Amino acid sequence: MLDSYRLLRPFLFALDPELAHNLTLASLDKTQQWGLLQHCITKPAPDPREFCGLHLPNPIGLAAGLDKDGRHIDALASLGFGFLEIGTVTPLPQPGNPKPRMFRLSEANALINRMGFNNDGVEACVQRVRQSPYWQSGGIVGLNIGKNAITPIDQAADDYVLGMNAVYEIASYITVNISSPNTKNLRELQGETMLRNLLSTLDLARKRLSDRFGVRKPLFLKIAPDLDEADIHLIADLLMEFGIDAVIATNTTIDRSAVQGLPSSEEVGGLSGAPVKNPSNHVLKILKARLQDELPIIGVGGILSGDDALEKIQGGASLVQIYTGLIYRGPGLIAECAKALKGI
Ligand code: FNR
Repeated sequence: MLDSYRLLRPFLFALDPELAHNLTLASLDKTQQWGLLQHCITKPAPDPREFCGLHLPNPIGLAAGLDKDGRHIDALASLGFGFLEIGTVTPLPQPGNPKPRMFRLSEANALINRMGFNNDGVEACVQRVRQSPYWQSGGIVGLNIGKNAITPIDQAADDYVLGMNAVYEIASYITVNISSPNTKNLRELQGETMLRNLLSTLDLARKRLSDRFGVRKPLFLKIAPDLDEADIHLIADLLMEFGIDAVIATNTTIDRSAVQGLPSSEEVGGLSGAPVKNPSNHVLKILKARLQDELPIIGVGGILSGDDALEKIQGGASLVQIYTGLIYRGPGLIAECAKALKGI
């Protein structure tokens, strides 16, 4: 598959990035529905992991944003991921930002996106997850929740509670995304007062839902790479105070120093892929030093090879997720990462 992806890539890269993305996922769905996908894919060897009470077949996950609406769960699962993160979904459907809103920086193995949480709304996503045979057979599906663009930032907690209520029953875990650069003021939620308010509200909401459904679902927080040491310490301390189960580090960066002068580098949005690896790994290192073994970390940002995945684990992550690497390397990257992490 890796080789066939290498052949396919020039054709996909000749297209607008968002169009290529949609076409690829549509063809993947068809290939999976026709039963052909398993013949084209080298699946990772089993490497079971326990994480926050979840039983994962391997430690390689799909990062949020690639399947925002849960439309491609079965095809993506067939690629061999140990877990999938769907979303970001918001309480109400919203169109996201005007196109174009996704840009390739091929020389840097990177993307810039300003999608802006385009999604069909949380209810539509929940219906799709329920219909997925992968989910029905116990596959791990995390739901990543966010706020609508029209919701004022001081009422953001209400949107997260709405999201949590809607996904609680079906989600293997819930990720609270406060780190996208593409929703105005969202990352302000990483500051002390707002984060304390958000986490205490979500803690109460989860307690209520745990009582109602008789199960305590793991709650993760996803953070940005553009944080200094003091910010990271503060977030780490609040995560422990409010019983958050894990942290996902990191989202995309607004920093452009690694891609200066490249075509499209000045586009507004979040930069992902190879240039976010060092900032993400830096956050990971500071987080790990602060959290020790109190709270596990999922490492994401700039994984384009098995060695990159290994670096995340050696830096303190327990699991990894990938997005941009899939665009540049194709699905063979999943087995490559799994091989690099086998038994570690
Ligand atoms: C993302 N990412 C993202 N993250 C999130 O929590 N919610 C989202 O909706 C999105 N949307 C999104 C769209 C696009 C086009 C990209 C490229 C990325 C961030 C993603 O999950 C990941 O954290 C970063 O991209 C860093 O990892 P990679 O891409 O370098 O492996």
